[in-house]
Amino acid sequence: MRAHDVKEILIDKAAIAARVETLVDEIAATEPDSLVVIGILKGSFMFLADLLRSFHRHNLHPRIDFLTLSSYGADTVSSGTVEIIHDIGENIVGADVLVVDDILDTGRTLAMTKQLLLERGAKSVHSCVLLEKKAHRAVDFEADFSGFEIDNHFVVGYGLDYDNLYRELPHIAKVAFK
Ligand code: IMP
Ligand code: MG
Repeated sequence: MRAHDVKEILIDKAAIAARVETLVDEIAATEPDSLVVIGILKGSFMFLADLLRSFHRHNLHPRIDFLTLSSYGADTVSSGTVEIIHDIGENIVGADVLVVDDILDTGRTLAMTKQLLLERGAKSVHSCVLLEKKAHRAVDFEADFSGFEIDNHFVVGYGLDYDNLYRELPHIAKVAFK
């Protein structure tokens, strides 16, 4: 791990909370049918929990599952391959699936996940991310619901990590390398 600090807040707690509410309004407006929400672990856990609490306002009752995919390890550059570490257990045949991830970067994670779930018989697969880095796409993929667009910095907090650290921060902070 390189010497760094995480002092600069990019998106504060209140801004995240406000955006979570409007994202759920956008999701509910699509009137999903047999909804299964799948969180990509580990990065999505905090975002997913906040999104789901807000589903209550719209009387939405999704089934919930998790898919654990490989991460960067101690690096800040995506390795280019996405590996399934732990699979979902829900039957998603005929379901409207909403995949939730922390950040859309190269697009590989969500492109691969969407293809996998469609092959397994999902009726539709939509995606929701808290953050997206526009500049960095390696594959042609756009999220259906996206919280904030950010520049190409490495960020942590609210589920996002650097070498599995800082996931507990209640805000999004920039990692400044020294
Ligand atoms: P993609 O497959 O390149 O789109 O990568 C998405 C995954 O990379 C996310 O789920 C994150 O785990 C990780 N990631 C991408 N950018 C960042 C970042 O700035 N901070 C922490 N994790 C990141
Ligand atoms: Mg990660």
